[in-house]
Formats: sequence, C-alpha cells, structure tokens
Amino acid sequence: MKRKWIVTATCLLLLWTCLAVLALSGCGRAAGGRRIVRVALGQSETHPQYLGLLAFKETVEAELGDKYEVQIFPNEILGATQKAVELTQTGAIDFVVAGTANLETFADVYEIFSMPYLFDSVESYFAVMEDEETMEQIYTSTDKAGFRVLTWYNAGTRNFYAKEPVRTPEDLRGKKIRVQQSPASVKMMQAFGAAASPMSFGEVYTAIQQGVIDGAENNELALTSNKHGEVAKYYTYNMHQMVPDMLVGNLKFLEGLSPEELEVFTQAARRSTQVELAAWEEQVAQAREEARSMGVEFIQVDVEPFKEKVLDLHQEMIADNPDIAGIYGYIQSRNQQTKAWQERKEATDIDQG
Ligand code: GCU
Repeated sequence: MKRKWIVTATCLLLLWTCLAVLALSGCGRAAGGRRIVRVALGQSETHPQYLGLLAFKETVEAELGDKYEVQIFPNEILGATQKAVELTQTGAIDFVVAGTANLETFADVYEIFSMPYLFDSVESYFAVMEDEETMEQIYTSTDKAGFRVLTWYNAGTRNFYAKEPVRTPEDLRGKKIRVQQSPASVKMMQAFGAAASPMSFGEVYTAIQQGVIDGAENNELALTSNKHGEVAKYYTYNMHQMVPDMLVGNLKFLEGLSPEELEVFTQAARRSTQVELAAWEEQVAQAREEARSMGVEFIQVDVEPFKEKVLDLHQEMIADNPDIAGIYGYIQSRNQQTKAWQERKEATDIDQG
C-alpha cells in the first residue's frame, strides 16, 4: 500500500515537473509542429464528460488539425481537480473540467451553485444554464484569475449516499459526510446538521471504505463510474443541488488564438455540451440499474424537511456575499416563470384530456 502510494506520488511529481518545464519552455508540440492542447478531467473514460471532450477534440482537429492536437487526461491523472485548476491558471495545462465548487475561491459568484435547493426544477436549471447572456457574465468572472469558462456540462442532481440509510434530516445528525473543498459546501452540510468533511473526489471511496466518513453526496454516476456503490449502499433522493461542471480554459491561450480559431474552439465547446447532455440522460438511467445490481438501495423521501433545514442559508449566503444577489434574483424569476408555464400546461392537458 505504502509502496503504491510512493510510486503514484513520484509519477505525479514527475508529470507536474514535465508540465511545468513544458509550459515554461513554451514547447509541447507534437510531431509535425502541432501545438498540443492538454485537457484535464477528473472522470473516467466512460463518463459523459469524457465523451463530450472527445467531441471537442474531434471538432477542433477537424478544422484545425494541422495546427492543434487535443490530448485528454482523464481520471485525475494530472492531479485532483483543484490542483488542475491551478495548473490551468498558470498555463501548464490549457483546459480543465471543474466543478463550480472548485471555482469559488477564484470568483465568489460561483458560490451561487452551492446554494441548496436553488433551482425548483430541472427545467429552470436548464433554462438558466442555456441563457448565454447571463452565463457569459459568470464565465468571464474568472478573467482576473487568468482563466475563462467556455461551456457547461450537466453534473446532475446531488443527493446523499451513505453506509446507513438516510430517510430524514435527523439521520444525518452527527454523521461525517464528505463535501467538496469549498466554504459554501461546508456551510450547507453544517446546516443539514452533519459534520462536514472536505476532501477531494478521488479520496472519497477509501474514506468511506475505511470508515473515515459515513457517506457523501453526489449524482448517481459516483456510485458506478467511481464505484462508490461498492462501499455505500443507501442512496437518498433528497435532491439538494442541481449543479453544472465547467470547461475552463487558460485565458492567455484563448486570447492567443486568432478570431477564426477562437470561433472553432467555441463551437467545439458547444458541441461537446450537446454530446455530454445526451450521454448524461442515458448514463444516469443505466447507473441506477447498475447500482441496484451492486446492492444499492434507492430511497425516495419527503424533500420538505430537508429543505427546511437549509432554506435560511439563502439569505445568509447573500448577506455574506453580495456578488451573488443579482444572479440569485434572476434564478428566482426563472423558477417562477417555469412554474407558471408548467401550471398552464397541466391545465391545458386536463382541458384536452
Ligand atoms: C461530480 C462533479 C465533479 C465534482 C465531484 C465532486 O463528479 O461532476 O465536478 O468534482 O462531483 O464531488 O468532487
């Protein structure tokens, strides 16, 4: 175990050193003088985001294959996502897919996505994410940190999963639950009444297995793609967050592209989102089946008592961070519009039915 750890650490150190040298020397060219574009991903090669990135690679290379070769590094091979964001910031790598929690320390507007029960429905979540004007303001908010978001990927709905069943918020009392490494995630978990254990995604499996934590919270793919269903057998649909992941690019790299090249990268990013969204729908349904066969029980609960625990956080978070007030108001209006539209649709369906 210790030896394996030393080998892994040495490999990572070597890899980081190589990347740093490549970035400093400005090389990183493939045979034929093409510029290598490195993309870091925390997920595996079967994950929807990997499929999305393959479409990104294909589109860029179809148009600009004589100049650029896109290389995808999955499975946190370039380090935990938080580290990979820093490497993207310095330009040692060019792109990374990061959770919004990973971006909070660079631009505090990203805290909005950690707010529990922010979106009322999947429709409202999608309407906001597809609203280019609004998202553009969020995407450019990290410019001062040296990187910019090109597009979003669906990362589903986050729910609790644990070694013991969670049926009510009381079941969380005193439990150690892993959260992402962000202050807003810690606050949310404390409001639920559990003890927050921040750690990187790659550490969660072993931490549950060894009893360091009692559970975690994530989408269904964590059970299968990351095998957490082997060690946590109860998954509770309390639906506290709908969250995107972001494709983040080094700003100097993006600004160094010609307008035509930037357009190709932008279109490639859009196409990668379409591929990812379609794959997501399919894979979540499959993940439920696969997790059941791993012995995971899916628990439906009354969501209201969970909501009641954390709803005060909305005003507290806005008071602590006024940068999220505008986007919060906008999302609330989208929630109401979507609800009104759904009610009208139901009424029409009844009339016609
Ligand atoms: C999901 C999400 C990642 C995030 C991870 C986590 O897999 O897609 O962006 O890093 O959860 O909980 O850390």
